Amino acid sequence: MKITAFTLGFLAAAASAAPAADTASGNNACAKTLALKITNIYENGDTNFHYDYCENIKDGRGFTSGISGFCTGTADAWEVVQQYHKLTGGKDSFSKYDGVLKKYAQSGSDSTSGLDGYCSVWSKLGKSDAKFRNAQDAIRDSMYYNPSQKLADQLGLKLSISRAQLYDCGIQHGTGSDADGLAGLIKTTNASFKADAKGSSGSTLKINGHNVDEVAWLTKFLQVRTNDLLHPKEKENASGAWKETLYRVKSYQYALSKKQYNWTKSVQVLDNDGKPVTVSC
Ligand SMILES: *[C@@H]1O[C@H](CO)[C@@H](O)[C@H](O)[C@H]1NC(C)=O
Ligand SMILES: *[C@@H]1O[C@H](CO)[C@@H](O)[C@H](O)[C@H]1NC(C)=O
Ligand SMILES: *[C@@H]1O[C@H](CO)[C@@H](O)[C@H](O)[C@H]1NC(C)=O
Repeated sequence: MKITAFTLGFLAAAASAAPAADTASGNNACAKTLALKITNIYENGDTNFHYDYCENIKDGRGFTSGISGFCTGTADAWEVVQQYHKLTGGKDSFSKYDGVLKKYAQSGSDSTSGLDGYCSVWSKLGKSDAKFRNAQDAIRDSMYYNPSQKLADQLGLKLSISRAQLYDCGIQHGTGSDADGLAGLIKTTNASFKADAKGSSGSTLKINGHNVDEVAWLTKFLQVRTNDLLHPKEKENASGAWKETLYRVKSYQYALSKKQYNWTKSVQVLDNDGKPVTVSC
């Protein structure tokens, strides 16, 4: 997966910090599972977590594998393997790759030389090894889920739908404060509120000194994200591919239109073809 300086910095902090409290009613364990499953539809085509997936998709990032598309060329696969070593005590089927994985993680190399059999090891452990699955969950959270929820906490977001939307956006746009990143889009959304914005969601945010209903904020955020997908600000993101992914924003607009704000058991969203689909915990 593509990673940013922001996620790496957060990773260092997250390793020592306790996990974010998930106590607010809109932010329970089920709501997190639903957020992960919905984004999985858009990233991987279904709601299953593919712990055993491993392939060189020739996108310049080496081997891509596991539940978050961890790559040997972007340092996140190396994070998973190190986390796994912590759980196994250090000597396991990945140990023989350590030197090469570390080298490619640091240089951002897409080479697979020295990694013969890497995908067989990954797939075998991914199918059945609980520690390896835990390692993938932990790095998905520390690098991708937690940074998005930290930004949600800073805003005071309480509803499941808005917290899940920040995760989905962070996975696609990156969580950084560049103009196309999650923090950048939040900043643009914040700046658009120049007066109170009323609503009936039951959750009111304080934005630039104004009382802003959480659903009014999310509605605006979805417009800002749509605009960015159509017109990315950074050249690097302007390949045209983002335009084809508007369905993942429309999906949240659909869930909003059905007033599905707090999630406890299931939620109805739209799949990659724009068809309603029920996702359950
Ligand atoms: C959703 O959860 C938030 C935060 O706990 C709460 O303030 C709000 O009343 C809940 N709304 C509904 C409709 O249950
Ligand atoms: C978008 O562009 C910025 C700046 O070049 C870059 O940091 C970011 O990673 C890009 N986002 C994606 C998803 O490619
Ligand atoms: C958005 O606004 C809120 C409230 O003013 C603030 O706490 C938060 O840090 C802002 N987020 C960003 C990314 O600028």
